[in-house]
Order: sequence, then C-alpha cells, then structure tokens
Amino acid sequence: MWDYSEKVMDHYRHPRNVGTIEDADAVGTAGSLVCGDQLKIYLKIDNNIVTDAKFQTFGCGSAVASSSILTEMIIGKTIEEVRKITNKDIADQLDGLPPEKMHCSVMGYEALEDALKDYRADGYVPLEEVQNETKEKMICTCFQVTDKVIIDAIKANGLKTVEEVTNYTKAGGACGRCKGEIQKIIDNYYSGTVEEEKPKELTPTQFILKVNNLIETQISPELVKDGGDIELVDIKDKDIYVKLKGMCSGCKNSTMTLKVFVESTLQKALGDDIRVIEVK
Ligand code: FES
Repeated sequence: MWDYSEKVMDHYRHPRNVGTIEDADAVGTAGSLVCGDQLKIYLKIDNNIVTDAKFQTFGCGSAVASSSILTEMIIGKTIEEVRKITNKDIADQLDGLPPEKMHCSVMGYEALEDALKDYRADGYVPLEEVQNETKEKMICTCFQVTDKVIIDAIKANGLKTVEEVTNYTKAGGACGRCKGEIQKIIDNYYSGTVEEEKPKELTPTQFILKVNNLIETQISPELVKDGGDIELVDIKDKDIYVKLKGMCSGCKNSTMTLKVFVESTLQKALGDDIRVIEVK
C-alpha cells in the first residue's frame, strides 16, 4: 500500500475546483481514458492573470489530488508564473507523492501546458508558434508519451533510470517495447546530447538582423491581423525600441501586447535580458 501525505488525502477527499468553465479562455487535456487516466483543465484568464480554474479527471486519488492542488496553485497567478510550474512543484505542494504515482503530477503539468497552448488573447500567441518549431517524437505508443514529455520529466525531477521514467510518465509501463528508446533518451540527456536550448551568441549585426526578422515574420503579421502593426525604431545593447502602429497605438492593452507578446517572443529567441520599450 502506498503512503500518502495528509495533503494528498485532504485533496482527494475534498477536491477543490471540480467542474467546468463554460466560457473558458483555455482548455487543456492530458492522458487518455484508454491509458486509465485523463485530466481536463479549464482556465479563465483576465488581463494575463488566471482568475479561475476548474478540472475534471478520470483517475486515481493521486490524479484527483494533483489536479485539485494545481488549480489552487494557478488561480491568481500570471501566465508567466503559471508557465514556470513543473510536475515537481505540484508534487511538492502535496508534500510528495509515492514514486509510482508521480505520473499523476506529470499529467497535471501536461494538461496545464496544453491549456497554455490553447490560450489566445489580444496580442498573445502561444509559445510554440513563436519558438523555432521542434517536432516531438512519439516514444511510447501504448501510453502516447513523446520524447518532450520524457525529457521534461527527467529535467524537472532528475530521473536516472527507465523505471523512474515509467513511474513519472507511464512510458514503458505496458508492452515495454519503448524501454530501449527511453534508455537512449536518458543516456543522451546525461551525456549532454540533449541540452537546454540556449540563445546563440550573435555579432551585433546578426543581432539586429535577427530582431528585424523576428518582428517582420512573427510579430508584425500577428498584430496586422488585429489591425495594428509595429515598427523597429532603434536597438541599444539589449534594449529594443519599437513604435506600435494602427489599432495597437494608444490601445489600452498596448502594455500587455508589448510585454506578453512582443517582449516574450524576442526573449525566447534572444535571451531573457531583452527589454522592449515603446516609443510614442
Ligand atoms: S510502447 Fe511503451 S509500453 Fe508499449
């Protein structure tokens, strides 16, 4: 029998925020009924802050507890803060989960990630559309687990063995055919073949060209869709001066557009120290 913390038992017996949100701004799912667990999470987002969250889950007590505490963790947080939550944070908030049940916290993380991809607001574009496309590879067909999910779980939890990966993601827990692939991912991760994507060092000229290119190909087209646009005015070191045009200029959401969309798009490609400053 597994040893559950009091918090797990409390959230299992009295789950918070169960249900749906009819006019949700984002909905994410993870797992599948075929695999035995499924979680669907609904978010209401206002002015970049999660104002409400609800969930429906089909799964064990740990899945209920993980989903319940996750909704409590994200209500009141900004999208940027929510984006940083890992499955380890979910398990830590529950004062831990048995190793064999850690996949429930991963399911929470995956559903949240899926919801954030779904989230669209004025001037906001899901991250996967603004980052360089990285194709995910299906590793475990029995449980529909991709290499990204496995790598994220290894990274967040320091997993070192196939058995641990199975406990956290379920991958490898049925026919076992994927265990060799999982081992390869672990080996590659610890030998440095799979590295965090780091922004490349660019010369000043390359940097300016890159900024220009990102604005022209990724940022401007999205703003144009809403009747706005953007113009690059100047670049001083990591400070990028821009002018919002059309509907974007003078719009009450312009600060959000600049920070949540423009600045985060540039930061993802060029580093966290990028700052975007509006020139009126
Ligand atoms: S393919 Fe992964 S357990 Fe079957």
